[in-house]
Amino acid sequence: MWPNDRFIKLCGIELPVIQAPMAGAALSDMVVAVSQAGGLGSLACALLSVENARKELEIIRQKTSRPINANFFCHQPPQEDHAREITWRQRLNAYYIELDVATNTSIPSSARSTFDEKMCDLVTEFHPEVVSFHFGLPDKNLVLRVRSTGAKILSSATSVDEARWLEDQGCDAIVAQGFEAGGHRGMFLTEDVSTQVGTMALVPQVVDAVKVPVIAAGGIGDARGILAAFALGATAVQIGTAYLHCPEAQISPLYRQALKGSRDNDTAITNVFTGRPARSIVNRFVREVGPMSDVAPKFPLGAAALAPLRAKSEPAGSADFTPLWSGQSARLGRELPAADLTRQLAADALKNLALLQPKA
Ligand SMILES: Cc1cc2nc3c(=O)[nH]c(=O)nc-3n(C[C@H](O)[C@H](O)[C@H](O)COP(=O)(O)O)c2cc1C
Repeated sequence: MWPNDRFIKLCGIELPVIQAPMAGAALSDMVVAVSQAGGLGSLACALLSVENARKELEIIRQKTSRPINANFFCHQPPQEDHAREITWRQRLNAYYIELDVATNTSIPSSARSTFDEKMCDLVTEFHPEVVSFHFGLPDKNLVLRVRSTGAKILSSATSVDEARWLEDQGCDAIVAQGFEAGGHRGMFLTEDVSTQVGTMALVPQVVDAVKVPVIAAGGIGDARGILAAFALGATAVQIGTAYLHCPEAQISPLYRQALKGSRDNDTAITNVFTGRPARSIVNRFVREVGPMSDVAPKFPLGAAALAPLRAKSEPAGSADFTPLWSGQSARLGRELPAADLTRQLAADALKNLALLQPKA
């Protein structure tokens, strides 16, 4: 059926479609819908407390016995840098005044957490069939603990070097994340955004460089992208932005509206929301402060100073200060329930694949 079934066999799923983990945008509803449809639903835990991640995993395990993916960020927590924080606050000062936010408003610390022993306890408790990481891998002992649960371990690579590194560390499959992708770049061996590679160029070079199955991610919005990914040697696709259009996506009406109207060239890589490069729809904040700022605090501290501005502007109907994570293919999205979207994407890809085969 599928030209390459290594990944679906590795994970025990039916369809080579991974719903991308999307911190803050997809919870148990989406995961259950996609896994029940035969794909791989992913629970992103980076913005969840351990208690909330546990609740979500409990719901998922109650509602489906199909394989699931639990996903974690594994960045190095940053050193506090008061001087940089002050410079950043000064850069935002005009916005604080404009929105009438007290400049001494206390800033909540960012909720983006890195994988640690407590999150690892959840992995040993719930045994997700797949555990995936973003920004490399956690320390060796944690990786060993995850491995001992029997989970297949995945992580994102944005270059051949990163893919080789992940394979050397024992990853079971690699997500080749092209430049088109929405959300944070998984890059971890470089900070140079200018040399990041597009999906079309990245996937075949990663396929040639590693032995483990490669999953294509970035800009895949419909069956044509899936076909292309297989033609490039991928064994599955990881799709984020297209799933943001589903009713299960936990995003605000403002964000949904922005996605609906988003064109191919409406996004940019920016570090102004969190301190780390990520693709978002360009809004006022990205335009005026970014897209890349030398004074943005280290990830994930950048988000904190924005919180009071968001708290003021979003209820007033403005997405001027809101991260609007999106890949370059938002326009290809369809408003379908996540299960239907998963089945439809796979069925259309298979149909088109058959059309491409020369007739005997
Ligand atoms: C809203 C959003 C949140 C994301 N959060 C995560 C995350 O928590 N963990 C992760 O590994 N990748 C995350 N990503 C990146 C995706 O895994 C994937 O690389 C990307 O969505 C693929 O590109 P596409 O959006 O063009 O389909 C996120 C992407 C989006 C759009």
